[in-house]
Amino acid sequence: MKVAVLGAAGGIGQALALLLKTQLPAGSKLSLYDIAPVTPGVAVDLSHIPTDVEVKGFAGEDPTPALLDADVVLMSAGIARKPGMDRSDLFNINAGIVRNLMEKVALTCPKALVGIITNPVNTTVAIAAEVLKNAGVYDKNRLFGITTLDVIRSETFIAELKGLNVADVKVNVIGGHSGVTILPLLSQVEGVTFTDKEVAAMTTRIQNAGTEVVEAKAGGGSATLSMGQAACRFGLSLVRGLQGEANIVECAYIDGGSEHATFFAQPILLGKNGVEKVLPYGEISAFEANARDAMLDTLKGDIKLGVEFVK
Ligand SMILES: NC(=O)c1ccc[n+]([C@@H]2O[C@H](COP(=O)([O-])OP(=O)(O)OC[C@H]3O[C@@H](n4cnc5c(N)ncnc54)[C@H](O)[C@@H]3O)[C@@H](O)[C@H]2O)c1
Repeated sequence: MKVAVLGAAGGIGQALALLLKTQLPAGSKLSLYDIAPVTPGVAVDLSHIPTDVEVKGFAGEDPTPALLDADVVLMSAGIARKPGMDRSDLFNINAGIVRNLMEKVALTCPKALVGIITNPVNTTVAIAAEVLKNAGVYDKNRLFGITTLDVIRSETFIAELKGLNVADVKVNVIGGHSGVTILPLLSQVEGVTFTDKEVAAMTTRIQNAGTEVVEAKAGGGSATLSMGQAACRFGLSLVRGLQGEANIVECAYIDGGSEHATFFAQPILLGKNGVEKVLPYGEISAFEANARDAMLDTLKGDIKLGVEFVK
């Protein structure tokens, strides 16, 4: 397996690269690309860690050498939030970065599974899809917006609140990846009950968890270490699916034929071609159904922005 990380010298990219170097299956290749000149050095640094994962680093304007023969591409290239910004404020800069990088992906490794981390994910995934369509290589089963951070935050916060072992807490998070479009399905968490007040407070905390980090870092950026962990979990799941492992299920923001919006985050079964099967997100509460319906205008607007950007 060859995994390419684009934006690899950044806060997320370096954390993700470290985790992949230590956790990818033996014999894998890790390819790091960033415009920052330090990137080959990040690769040399990682290469001294004794695991059977070969690391190469590439800097400069052209990601092509990093993308050659990639099976999985994880993209965190772009700028991150500062206090007072929401994810849509990143659009002006990150939209162009994602478009340009996806044009290279379409040319160099059109069959790769691509996981987009760069925000605003609700929009950047739509941009990526349009670029792939224009190049005639779009396969909706191979493109993912990575929403795993919302899932691991939900698991962590619920375990804390209810005094549970976090390893036993499983939560589906549906919708998108910003503000009200993030919808944790708390009613489905096994063995746990929440009061109405707890549901409202927990949902809001999960939706605003990114801002919690942005404010605590006081101008130093947004979540990088927890996002590195989330992207590693998702990236390893993509790899395990590609290698034919059974029952690999994750939530992700995909073009999965949802009745709600062109792109919608929900549970998926991963396999040798990416999305093997889009899974139903199951029974939800009245609170969740209301929140789902109320987010759709925002989500569809975010998607439209991406489609129009490329046009
Ligand atoms: N999906 C999520 O849950 C989630 C969570 C946190 C952050 N993010 C997003 O991830 C992105 C990266 O965050 P970060 O904290 O790592 O930022 P960062 O500024 O630390 O790193 C970004 C990196 O991208 C590189 N870069 C910029 N333009 C590039 C290009 N054209 N090609 C290659 N590399 C390029 C920069 O040189 C930098 O090293 C941001 O957009 C942020 O909003 C997503």
